Amino acid sequence: MPDDPGVAIDDYIQRLFIHEDEAQRAALESARAEGLPSIQVPAALGKLLGILTVATGAKKILEIGTLGGYSGIWMARALPAGARLISLDVNPHHAEVARRNFARAGVADRVEVRVGPALETLPSLQGEAPFDIVYIDADKDNYPGYLDWAIRLTRPGSLIIGDNVLRGGAIITPAADDAGARGINEFNRRAAEHPRLDAIILPNRNGRDGILIATVKA
Ligand code: DHB
Ligand code: MG
Repeated sequence: MPDDPGVAIDDYIQRLFIHEDEAQRAALESARAEGLPSIQVPAALGKLLGILTVATGAKKILEIGTLGGYSGIWMARALPAGARLISLDVNPHHAEVARRNFARAGVADRVEVRVGPALETLPSLQGEAPFDIVYIDADKDNYPGYLDWAIRLTRPGSLIIGDNVLRGGAIITPAADDAGARGINEFNRRAAEHPRLDAIILPNRNGRDGILIATVKA
C-alpha cells in the first residue's frame, strides 16, 4: 500500500470513471492561465453533480460561486435542452473566464453568469424560483446566509448541495478567527436541524473535505 492509501483510492476512482474532454481540460487550463485560484471541485465531484442533475431531472439549477465554470460545465452538460443554469460570482474576471469556458463546452445557450455579491443577487432571483438544485461553493463565511436563500428559492424535492463542509476537520471546533470555518460549522448545524431539510455529508478528497447534500421537504 502507498503511504497515503487515500491518494491511491482517489486516483483509482478517477482512472475508472472520469473521462474529461478537451473543453473540460481547456476550462481548467484557462482558469490557471488567467490566474484564478485552483480550487475548483475535483473531477469526481463534478461528475457527481452531473449525476445528481440527471437523477433529479433538474431543469433549473442555481450555482453560488462560478469560479472558472468547471463545476458549471459538469451540471450544464447534464441538463436537457431548454433547461437553465444560473451561476453567481462576485468577481467579474471569474465571470468572463467562465463565460468563455461555457461557450467552448457548448453550453453557453443554457448558462447565465450573474456578477455581484451573491447575498445581493439572490433576492432578485425569487421570480425565477423554484430551482431544482442549488449548489453552494463560494465564500465560506456566508454559507449560512446562502443556505437561508437556498431554502427560499427551492421547492419540496429540490436538492441543496454545499461544497467544502469539512475543511480538514477545522469546522468541528472552529477557531475564533476562522470566519470560514465558523460559517461552515453554522451551515452544517442549520442543515442538520432545519425542519424542512434532510441532509447528510459525504466525505471526499481523501477524507480531507466533504460535500453536504440535502433534500427539501414540504
Ligand atoms: C477553497 C474554496 C473552495 O470552494 C474549495 O473547493 C477549496 C478551497 C478556499 O477558499 O480555500
Ligand atoms: Mg469548493
